[in-house]
Amino acid sequence: MKFIVLAGGSGTRLWPLSRKNFPKQFLKLHPQEAESFFQKTLKRLSFYEEAEFFVVTNNKHKFYVINQIEEISKKLKNDPKFEIILEPDSKNTAPAIALAIRYAMEKGVSQEEIFFVSPSDHLIKPDKEFIDYIKTAEQIAKKGHIVTFGIKPTRPETGYGYIKVRAPEIEKFFKVEKFVEKPDIETAKKYIEEGNYFWNSGMFAFKADTIIEEFKQHAPQLGKIFEESYERVLNDFQTLPEISIDYAIMEKTQKAALIPVNIFWSDIGSWESLYEILEKDSQGNAVLAESINIETKESLIVGDKRVIATLGLQDTVVVETQDALLIAKKGECQKVKEIVKILSHKA
Ligand code: GDD
Ligand code: MG
Repeated sequence: MKFIVLAGGSGTRLWPLSRKNFPKQFLKLHPQEAESFFQKTLKRLSFYEEAEFFVVTNNKHKFYVINQIEEISKKLKNDPKFEIILEPDSKNTAPAIALAIRYAMEKGVSQEEIFFVSPSDHLIKPDKEFIDYIKTAEQIAKKGHIVTFGIKPTRPETGYGYIKVRAPEIEKFFKVEKFVEKPDIETAKKYIEEGNYFWNSGMFAFKADTIIEEFKQHAPQLGKIFEESYERVLNDFQTLPEISIDYAIMEKTQKAALIPVNIFWSDIGSWESLYEILEKDSQGNAVLAESINIETKESLIVGDKRVIATLGLQDTVVVETQDALLIAKKGECQKVKEIVKILSHKA
């Protein structure tokens, strides 16, 4: 099986730690942390024997990819092969995935081959169970399905895709009734009440010819990628629509299937979700810093520059980096995107 590792996103949701020029996937959460999210992703997937990685990124992030692969290579299982694909422009996940498959075809990979698409900025464990799910996905993808991994929702999160399944479960998977990418809060609440919805975890498995057909049918501008020379594809890449695979294919396809997965999964899409998964002290604080906290509760403190001291805070997020300091109320951190927007206008 071939793994398409998406490593070209410009995740700004963990600002000020993640930056446009240094997105989340390449981050180590803490200086004591040995590996970045991207490196953890490669390590986890390398448990699948004979994995071949197609890492899709862009010129700006090329050296992070190369350096981090080199750094982690000794720790990878099964000595996997790597190909790095450079997008001429960042056009979101649908063009990135289409380009990776087109590249693989150029290298002689068969259209019968199964591909597994993985983001590179999530935390997932344990490895063994995860690989078992991948092997199940591979079998289902062979039958012509586009396989997703569904996570049982715990809150009406609007940053995820929601997948409604059609019962009953057949041989470890459900057929998908509908896929709704990032609904508004009212709709998300309704889905949670209805109960037969899963969150889309952002990973997909499919046979190359299945997805190529779906690109041709539902996103013809991307479908053309499979009709043209590779050189032409690269030349015209800038003219492609900027769209995610979720909107371009998953909301439209009739071929989606879902494996309900019961493992630890987090996309760490906000400071609050990081707080959720970290260990807390006796006051409910999650601390990744040298820090003194007196009468501070339920807060997240991150920094590696100076001692951070807090007095009497509650539900607060403090993140200090070399050149920026974020102080926010817990629950408001989705809005760091607005800060990033203002900063990029200033730049
Ligand atoms: N190469 C490349 N090029 N990679 C990209 C690009 C691009 O233009 N844009 C995003 N990526 C990478 C990101 O780095 C990340 O690893 C992955 O693709 C997904 O992109 P996100 O931007 O993080 O998507 P999302 O989190 O908003 O939504 C997706 O993931 C959710 C789960 O975390 C969707 O699939 C949702 O349906 C899903 O619930
Ligand atoms: Mg994401």
